[in-house]
Parts: sequence; C-alpha cells; structure tokens
Amino acid sequence: MRKPLVAGNWKMNLDLAGARKLIGELRAGYSAEAAAKVEVAVCPPAVYVLPAVEAARGSGIAVGAQDLYFEASGAFTGEISAAMVKDVGATYVIIGHSERRHTIGHLEDDRMINLKVRAARKAGLTPILCVGETLAERQGGQTLDVLTFQLTAGIVGHALGSEADLVLAYEPVWAIGTGQNATPQQAQEAHAHLRAELRRLAGPVADRVRILYGGSMKPENAAEILEQPDVDGGLVGGASLKADSFLGIVRAALATAT
Ligand code: 13P
Repeated sequence: MRKPLVAGNWKMNLDLAGARKLIGELRAGYSAEAAAKVEVAVCPPAVYVLPAVEAARGSGIAVGAQDLYFEASGAFTGEISAAMVKDVGATYVIIGHSERRHTIGHLEDDRMINLKVRAARKAGLTPILCVGETLAERQGGQTLDVLTFQLTAGIVGHALGSEADLVLAYEPVWAIGTGQNATPQQAQEAHAHLRAELRRLAGPVADRVRILYGGSMKPENAAEILEQPDVDGGLVGGASLKADSFLGIVRAALATAT
C-alpha cells in the first residue's frame, strides 16, 4: 500500500566529484525493476542539488534539499526558498532535522519548522518532516508526548490530501550518528504512535503517508527495522555516503516491499 522510500541525507559531506560519482554508482545498482518497488532519494548539500539532479536524470533517483527558508524571496542572506529548490529539479526537502533543532547555531523551533513545511508544499515539494526525542526525553518517559507535539506543531495549517503532501521521519536524537539504532520494537512503537496521531489530525490519508526511520541505519540492521509494519523506509545519514552500504539498505527495503 505504501511504497517504501530510502532517502540518503548526505548532511555536510562529499564534494562535487564525489557527489557525481556516488550517484553514478547508485544508478548502476538501482534497476528499473527495483525502482518500481522502492523509491530512492538523495539529499545533498544545497550547492550540489542541481548537479545531483543532472547526474540522477532518467534514473528514477529523486533529489531533495536538506532545508529551505519559508519566505518566498527577499533580504534573507544565505537562505534558499522553496521555489528555488523546486526550480532546480528537487522533489523533496528535509525539514526540522534534529541537527537543525538541537545542534546548529540558530536553533529551529516548531513554529519555524511548520512555516517551512507549508512553504515546501506550496512550492510543490514533498517535505520530509523529522521528529524525534532526545535521550533525556526517552529516559523521562516523554517519547510519545514529544512525538505528538512535534507532529501536531509541524503540520498545523498544512492540508494533507495525499502521500505527496508529507513524509515523516522518526529520528530518535540519541540514535543519530551514534551507532546505536533504535530496536525494531522501539521504532515500531514510535511509528505506530505517529500514524495514529496523524490519523487523528488528518484522517485516513495517514495510512498513505510514509514514515521513515532514521538513526544509525545500516545494511546489517535495516531488514529487521524495515520489516516493522509501520516503518516505510529509511532516512540514512552515514551509510548513505557509500554506494555499497546505501544499496544494501535499498536491497533490504526491496526484500520487505510487496
Ligand atoms: P545516521 O544514519 O548517520 O545516524 O544519521 C541519521 C540521520 O540523521 C538522517 O537524517
């Protein structure tokens, strides 16, 4: 019912030659037959979005940005608009990644993230909205409340009509870049909760929205996570920077896809 999506978040990695080479290797390992069952996307740094679109053309590999700014245009030095991301051929944009919520200088709050989600969709992009609890929140038993809050705040005023309007990514902050992935049971619990909350907020479209897992996903742990009923793919950081490991995760998604 939901076509799995395996998306690579390259974060601030690779250079132009490395980006082109990686996409070339992904093209070689991603057949039309695979593309019919599992969607693949890469999200390079902003300056490499256009070359990535060119390198991926005709392959079925989608390209996304890692962020955007919600205003349409104007005096916002250093920012890029949703229309610009769309203009160069991207179809996805990651919004509210935990590194933007918690790590990078000007920390993003839920209101800003909501404005970005809405701007992305208005421009015809599919936002990949990231939500997830910190270690302290998990240890404090607040995980499900945090997810409800971030989801609710993230999609306020965002009309959901189809799966193109939203992808969710559950990324427990403690699992990102740590090598310590959520267990399949922890992932399933969080994903099922997010889907139930999305159903409450947006209705039956919740059954069509893909919910990706992100946080130390690798070929070795991908299968057991991806086979959970409410896990519809992965948002992959470190393991997306090498064709072998990223394609290993794509193969694991293929094995669980109907
Ligand atoms: P890692 O796969 O490196 O843990 O990163 C996950 C992530 O943040 C994807 O957005």
